[in-house]
Amino acid sequence: MARGFFFTFEGIDGCGKSTQLTRVAERLRESGTACVVTREPGGAPISEKIRELLISPCSSQMRPETELLLYLSARAQHVREVVKPAIDRGETVLCDRFEQATFAYQGHGRGLDIDVLRDVNAFATGGISPDITFVFDIPVTLSQERLNQIGKGKDRMESAGVQFFERVRKGYLEAAEKNPQKIKLLDGARDMDVLTGEILGVIEQYCS
Ligand SMILES: Nc1ncnc2c1ncn2[C@@H]1O[C@H](COP(=O)(O)OP(=O)(O)OP(=O)(O)O)[C@@H](O)[C@H]1O
Ligand SMILES: [Mg+2]
Repeated sequence: MARGFFFTFEGIDGCGKSTQLTRVAERLRESGTACVVTREPGGAPISEKIRELLISPCSSQMRPETELLLYLSARAQHVREVVKPAIDRGETVLCDRFEQATFAYQGHGRGLDIDVLRDVNAFATGGISPDITFVFDIPVTLSQERLNQIGKGKDRMESAGVQFFERVRKGYLEAAEKNPQKIKLLDGARDMDVLTGEILGVIEQYCS
């Protein structure tokens, strides 16, 4: 059986990852494509436990190295328990955040060495990597406006300052610029329907 494809949705908080992932999954299912919708950190029971630790405001003493290894522990489990089996079954996997978040947040945001991140991430994933990553780019001010509008309390990661998110955004932009074949940069401030259509256009080249 042909393997399934793996698509990931990335960008700073409030950029529209979950909104687009839900819409795209709905449209793919309507057209008969079997999809697995999942997220990081999390997506498998052990990984969801690690997620709680990562986002809890009680983890304020967490050091960048600890944070990195927890994200990667969650990923190692998620890839082996959920992502790889689905790909092997021939299903399409749509994942909310994946390895580009590690490079952007722990690399550009926290200042950990990107070459080290690449190596440990490869160990965690066992070489599974997305066919295409969609990065939704929005200004940090729009991210904060959207999050304020929803009125959702900030988790530990979301409580980092504006400078941190500026660095993360720059990290995502640089990654997309360096690897435009695999990382599709989309203007997340545009109309939701237009964005959904563009994403489906890219995915349909794989899933038709
Ligand atoms: N293209 C868009 N135009 C206007 N508003 C949008 C757009 N996309 C998403 N939104 C709104 O912005 C808010 C955040 O969107 P969403 O939850 O999809 O972002 P996210 O990237 O998943 O955020 P988080 O990282 O916090 O999970 C929601 O209220 C959503 O309706
Ligand atoms: Mg979301």
